[in-house]
Amino acid sequence: MNIAVRPYKPADREALRQIAYDTALMGRSADAFFQGEEFLKDALTAYFTDHEPQSAWVAEVDGVVAGYIIGARDESRMWKCFLTRILPGLLAEFLRSGLIFKVSNCRLFKGIIAGWFSGELHAPDFSAEYPAVLHINIKDGMRGAGAGTALINTLLDVFRRDGVRGLRLATMSDKGATFFRKNGFTLLFEGKRSYFNEAAGGKVPLYIFGLKMKP
Ligand SMILES: CC(C)(COP(=O)(O)OP(=O)(O)OC[C@H]1O[C@@H](n2cnc3c(N)ncnc32)[C@H](O)[C@@H]1OP(=O)(O)O)[C@@H](O)C(=O)NCCC(=O)NCCS
Repeated sequence: MNIAVRPYKPADREALRQIAYDTALMGRSADAFFQGEEFLKDALTAYFTDHEPQSAWVAEVDGVVAGYIIGARDESRMWKCFLTRILPGLLAEFLRSGLIFKVSNCRLFKGIIAGWFSGELHAPDFSAEYPAVLHINIKDGMRGAGAGTALINTLLDVFRRDGVRGLRLATMSDKGATFFRKNGFTLLFEGKRSYFNEAAGGKVPLYIFGLKMKP
């Protein structure tokens, strides 16, 4: 396989969004837990593609976009932008289109609310030491060929060059956890999540990994 990593460009937007949707549940499709494909694509990727595209790269395998890495150098800035510029439109669409009444969506939100009240969603705040965040996903069938490693090395080089202090990510995938350990990340927190019980057949792990880039 011929792997090439290059900066994200607007023409990659749809391919990136599709991969995000197709890999949302530990590398499998979001169909298992959500109804509303465009809505979820926006929720997962709109900040990165539309507001911080300079921190996004794609990997082409034999000329086809096979995966991406998207980052935010300052998570607090990302949340500010998400809450003021993306979330209002998402909420309006959620109500207008009737997605609020879909069974799998109700189940997911019920699970999230229950998790909130039970304390299961609690995780320590690592943002001071690790202010940057990333998401990475490779299409099924193109994994294990080196695209993920090439993407993460690209992002790390640029973030280091730009003086980013620390970087973190959350994953529910055991294979993903192995990948991040191999790439120098340290496990900061491990928990369990119940809101994918139906889709995943039980509680799933949640791992938070971090990498300090400056002493
Ligand atoms: C995790 C992921 C980004 C790694 O990218 P990749 O291109 O498959 O990984 P590479 O080929 O560069 O590196 C291979 C290593 O990654 C790990 N790995 C993780 N998932 C893997 C998979 N499905 N297939 C093969 N290797 C995988 C292995 O440790 C492997 O090491 P090895 O070759 O010594 O066994 C990618 O497999 C993926 O997107 N998986 C599904 C979604 C996911 O877990 N995303 C993580 C962030 S939430």
